[in-house]
Amino acid sequence: MSMNIGILGAGNVGKILGKGLVTAGYQVLISSREPHDPKHFTWKQEVGKSGDIASFNEAALFGEIIIVALPWSCLKEVVEAIDPVYLQNKTVIDVSNAVHFDNGPRLQLVDRSVAEIIQQLLPESHVVKTLNTVSDKIMIYPKFREGSPIMFISGNNTSSKNQVNSLLKDLGWPLIVDLGDIRQSRLQESIMLACVISENQLQSPGSAFALLRH
Ligand SMILES: NC(=O)c1ccc[n+]([C@@H]2O[C@H](COP(=O)([O-])OP(=O)(O)OC[C@H]3O[C@@H](n4cnc5c(N)ncnc54)[C@H](OP(=O)(O)O)[C@@H]3O)[C@@H](O)[C@H]2O)c1
Repeated sequence: MSMNIGILGAGNVGKILGKGLVTAGYQVLISSREPHDPKHFTWKQEVGKSGDIASFNEAALFGEIIIVALPWSCLKEVVEAIDPVYLQNKTVIDVSNAVHFDNGPRLQLVDRSVAEIIQQLLPESHVVKTLNTVSDKIMIYPKFREGSPIMFISGNNTSSKNQVNSLLKDLGWPLIVDLGDIRQSRLQESIMLACVISENQLQSPGSAFALLRH
């Protein structure tokens, strides 16, 4: 089913997810403080008529599903500046991480997750955490010699999680596991950190965790 997706952000993640979703048949509006900046021209050419770039508010209004693809440093500020009516009753996918990279990677939040904070900021929306555990290069149509990676989701609303499940399938994720309510997004943010440390130790960027089954 074709749906409108609004993406808050037009960085690495916003552009890669935007392109993947256009390829999968969705209509996509990504967003930036400077939507008319020439740095976005190549992306616009690549996606054609099914994708465009606008302001954060316009993307929020456009999307039936919203994806938050913003650095933690500005995320609260951007989300708080959006008219909450534009996000009301919508699925809001959070792919973000809050990490310190000085002296080895560490989580910035210890007793809460980014996704829980977004859910608190948007009580009328249904936040679902996913895709934060992998690098942007493998967020769409992941292919590995060694098998299929696993993707986790968490959130409080079952129909929003079902929506995200089918969106992930459209992006080529074969194995999706629902970890539970939005508090479980803390696990996903920790799994991301474990993955980053593993990638660094094994000098294997672009890796992903898999579940090995008999
Ligand atoms: N990159 C990855 O491999 C990866 C993987 C998993 C999860 N994540 C998470 O996904 C999120 C996005 O990552 P990214 O790599 O796409 O980030 P990015 O490339 O740095 O994207 C930055 C986006 O945020 C906007 N932005 C930056 N500072 C801003 C400010 N002060 N006010 C308003 N907007 C601002 C930029 O807007 P302008 O266009 O206006 O500059 C741009 O659209 C992060 O939370 C990251 O941890 C990233």
